[in-house]
Amino acid sequence: MQVIILPTPKDVALHAANKVVDVIIKKTSPVLGLATGSTPIALYNELVCRHQAGRLSFKSIRTFNLDEYIGIDEDHKQSYRSFMNRYLFDLVDIDLTNTHVPAAASLDPETLNHNAALYDAEISAVGGIDLQILGIGTNGHIGFNEPTSSFSSRTRIKTLSESTIAANKRFFMADEFQPYLAITMGIGTILESREILLMATGKEKASAVKDMIEGPLSSMCPASILQTHEKAIIVLDEEAASSLTLKEYYLWCETKRQQLHKGNCV
Ligand code: GLP
Repeated sequence: MQVIILPTPKDVALHAANKVVDVIIKKTSPVLGLATGSTPIALYNELVCRHQAGRLSFKSIRTFNLDEYIGIDEDHKQSYRSFMNRYLFDLVDIDLTNTHVPAAASLDPETLNHNAALYDAEISAVGGIDLQILGIGTNGHIGFNEPTSSFSSRTRIKTLSESTIAANKRFFMADEFQPYLAITMGIGTILESREILLMATGKEKASAVKDMIEGPLSSMCPASILQTHEKAIIVLDEEAASSLTLKEYYLWCETKRQQLHKGNCV
């Protein structure tokens, strides 16, 4: 894991935006894995700014989102499709037919299972994901892969945990139906991405971040599996990094990595 600790959430977003742009520049037809939640909003804002300044085009980009709620319509304000349209897709020159969010509008389990399996097939058909953006839940989940999710799981229906439902309550009105099921990319699916960049900011993520980076590999912290990925970059602000035992070492490693990048070994 490459652990990068930066002073503020804004720095985390800028770092992630630079990485996204690197991938876009290097590939003729880049495939991005995208995440929802409050953490990546600053990243999307930055990408939109660069697009509006004429520095970035999304015309050749295909995207696959991690997850979608079951039980609300696609045009519901809190659906992840609406979220992506609102914060990114409607604001840039992306072809909407190149954007994918798991199809979760049906209430028929067979159709939902079929859609989930199709999602993995669609990702494979375009040659896999070049860069997967992730956030992390306070319980260590990635996508909606809740604690005890299999490390080899594929895209599927998942029941949300009590803590996730509580954490996401803030987005729904008091008398509004809040989904407790979702279709999520599986952990096995996520791990097939060529590169992964996980963003975490804020003190409430510090414990999950510690378990992910310094804890044992355990399905109780699904994000801990990123320890086994060849190219996983974890970008944290000071607060999210505040419980790490080896924090000073990660900062030191990053200084050294930058020196090496400039061809300087000492
Ligand atoms: C949701 C999403 C995750 C996201 C998590 C954390 O549960 N399914 O992909 O990482 O929320 O969200 P936030 O960034 O709002 O803390």
